[in-house]
Amino acid sequence: MKAKLWDIVPDFELRYKAGLAYEINHLKREKNAVILGHNYMEPALYHSIPDFTGDSLALSRRAAETDKDIIVFCGVRFMAETAKILNPLKTVLLPAEKAGCSLAESITAEDVRRLRAQFPGVPVVTYVNTYADVKAESDICCTSSNAAAVVESLGTATVIFLPDEYLAGNVARETGKHIIFPTKTPRPGGQDDAQLDYQLIGWHGRCEVHEKFTVEDIENVRAQFPDVVILAHPECSPAVVTAADFSGSTTAMIQYVERSSAPRYLLLTECAMGDNVAAENPGKEMLRLCSVRCPHMNQITLEDTRDALKYTRYVIEVPEEIRVRAARAVERMIAIG
Ligand code: 13P
Ligand code: SF4
Repeated sequence: MKAKLWDIVPDFELRYKAGLAYEINHLKREKNAVILGHNYMEPALYHSIPDFTGDSLALSRRAAETDKDIIVFCGVRFMAETAKILNPLKTVLLPAEKAGCSLAESITAEDVRRLRAQFPGVPVVTYVNTYADVKAESDICCTSSNAAAVVESLGTATVIFLPDEYLAGNVARETGKHIIFPTKTPRPGGQDDAQLDYQLIGWHGRCEVHEKFTVEDIENVRAQFPDVVILAHPECSPAVVTAADFSGSTTAMIQYVERSSAPRYLLLTECAMGDNVAAENPGKEMLRLCSVRCPHMNQITLEDTRDALKYTRYVIEVPEEIRVRAARAVERMIAIG
């Protein structure tokens, strides 16, 4: 930990966290557990206890493959639920009781059923950042690393894409589709949704972290550092993604930095990831807008991960009837890559 994090985490904090990590790694072996760590985990946790780190898609794959008895998911609830959906015989633990997500909270299973009734026969793609009952109403899931490929794999003229309005906007641009957002009330002029020109039907969910980045942020940073390379997660607005140099999932951004050689980068995503990328790329400067943190990812601490293993808490359960239907949508996504 010290070799990677000496100039990122203060020494006294590193010592304290190294003690916790030692305890967790011991418990992990004793309980035959695997720890999955999302790229947004704070640097000391990220660099010490996970057996695997990655973006939502990579961690879903790891969850599906594991032969351990317990999966501890250092991420948020929808990710731990996805692990349970794919691996129902394992005990899946989330170290924090809630650890939600503004996107997952933006839509219900009933909303999806209503959209299906409004647009009969149109397939439903849902982002993995949703709860199991919403996935269960969907034809296929997607993550930030395969959203456009999933939409195109359906081969249909029209697709319902839920619930992130910005990711939908970015996918619409990438696939050349017109997007609409259905209204509950009639549109001015008396037109109803069915009469409009559309190929992608979106929803007004947003990531409370990525919606904060603006084109003005990009302009300000470029004015100060003309040689900066700017990377934006596709949960940022289409205007921000267009103004950035690259857009991709959390792992795609990590790989972009590793494989390129700019003097400095700006990551428009959760700030802890900037620390993790900086630790892996000592010669490259990471600029980041650190007022922008995910309050849900930040609930996952080393202390709570230790207690999750020690007391077998918080156990993720998904009712079997929902799980089976949700698994179809997630497995269909995994199969297309
Ligand atoms: P990734 O799938 O890119 O890791 O994104 C997950 C997420 O929650 C981003 O906010
Ligand atoms: Fe959800 Fe945004 Fe947090 Fe990711 S960063 S978990 S999308 S609120």
